Amino acid sequence: MAEISEGDVPGAPGGLVLGLVPSARKSVENMGGPLSTTKTSGGEAVEVPPYAPQWLELREPADAAARAHDLLDPLRIRLANLPGKASGLVIHDLGCGTGSMGRWLAPRLDGAQHWVLHDRDPDLLHLAVTRAPRTAADGSPVTVETERSDLTELTAERLAGASLVTASALLDVLTRDQVETLAEACSGAGVPALFALSVLGRVEFNVEDPLDAEITEAFNLHQRRGDLLGPDAITAACEAFDRRGASVRVHPSPWRLGPDDAALIEDWLRGWIDVACEQRPELTPRVEPYLRRRLAQSAAGELRVRVHHSDLLALPRPRGGVS
Ligand SMILES: C[S@@+](CC[C@H](N)C(=O)[O-])C[C@H]1O[C@@H](n2cnc3c(N)ncnc32)[C@H](O)[C@@H]1O
Repeated sequence: MAEISEGDVPGAPGGLVLGLVPSARKSVENMGGPLSTTKTSGGEAVEVPPYAPQWLELREPADAAARAHDLLDPLRIRLANLPGKASGLVIHDLGCGTGSMGRWLAPRLDGAQHWVLHDRDPDLLHLAVTRAPRTAADGSPVTVETERSDLTELTAERLAGASLVTASALLDVLTRDQVETLAEACSGAGVPALFALSVLGRVEFNVEDPLDAEITEAFNLHQRRGDLLGPDAITAACEAFDRRGASVRVHPSPWRLGPDDAALIEDWLRGWIDVACEQRPELTPRVEPYLRRRLAQSAAGELRVRVHHSDLLALPRPRGGVS
C-alpha cells in the first residue's frame, strides 16, 4: 500500500506527518470518484471525498473479520422462505466500492445469486466486476451487473423482485433523510436489508492516551458535519426500519486490530487524526507527538485498537404468511 508512505511531507519533524495521506484521508472519514457532494436536508452541499481502492483493499480483511456472523442465520432463514427462491437470489449492494460485501457474503449463501452492484464511482464499479465472486456456498453460479447511480434516490420500484439489499460502511456517510429513503425503498419492496459496519464513534486502545478522547470527539464532530449522521447512523436506521414495521437486529462488528494490522493501523490513524485536526486545527501541534507515540507502539507490536461498528439486519414484515 504505497500511498501510506507517500503522505510523508518532506521536512516534517522526524519525518512524521499528520494525515495528508490521500488514501487515508479519503478513507477513515468513511465518507464517500472525483469529489462528490451530498445535499443535506437544509440544502447545504457537503463535499464528500472519493474512496481510494487501495484503502478499501487494505481494510477488507479487517472488515471480513469484523462482520457479524450472528446475523447470517436469521438472514438465511428469511431467504430460504422467499417465494420464487428457486429462480435464484437477486441482491442489490448499495455503495459497493470494490465489492467487498459480495466477496464476503456470496460464498456464505446457498443458491444462484445475481448481484446488482450500485455505486456512483465508475472506477470502483469496474474493480468490483473484475473481482466479483463466481460461486455461492453450494457451488451455484454468482453473476453481477453494475448500476452507476445515486443510491439516495433509490425507490421501492427499483427493488421490485429483489431478495436482499446490502450495504457496508455506508450508512454513516448519509443524512437522516437519505437513510429514511433507503428504509422506505426496502420496506416498500418488502426486501430484507443487511447494512454492515456502521461506525459508532468509539475507539479503544489497549494503552490509553490523554489525547484519545479529544481526537475522537473532533473526528465525530466532523463526521456529523452538515447533517450527515456519522456515529448516529445506526440509531437512525433502526428507527427508520422499526417505524416501517420491520424486525431489526443490531450486532457489534468492531475492527480488532493488532500487530498483524500495522499497515491498516497506520493508514487509519493518520486519516483519523487528519480529520480531527481539520475539525479542530488547534489540536495540530499536539497530535504530532501523539502520532509518533502510537506508530512506535504499533511498530513494536504493542498496540491494539478496537474501532467500534455495528451491523444491522432489518427483516420486513413477512408478506403472504411467509415466516
Ligand atoms: C466506505 S465506501 C464502502 C465501500 C464498500 N461497501 C466496502 O465496504 O468496502 C462507501 C461507498 O459508497 C459509495 N457512495 C457513497 N455515497 C453514495 C451515493 N450517494 N450514491 C452512490 N454511491 C455512494 C462510495 O462511492 C463508496 O464506494
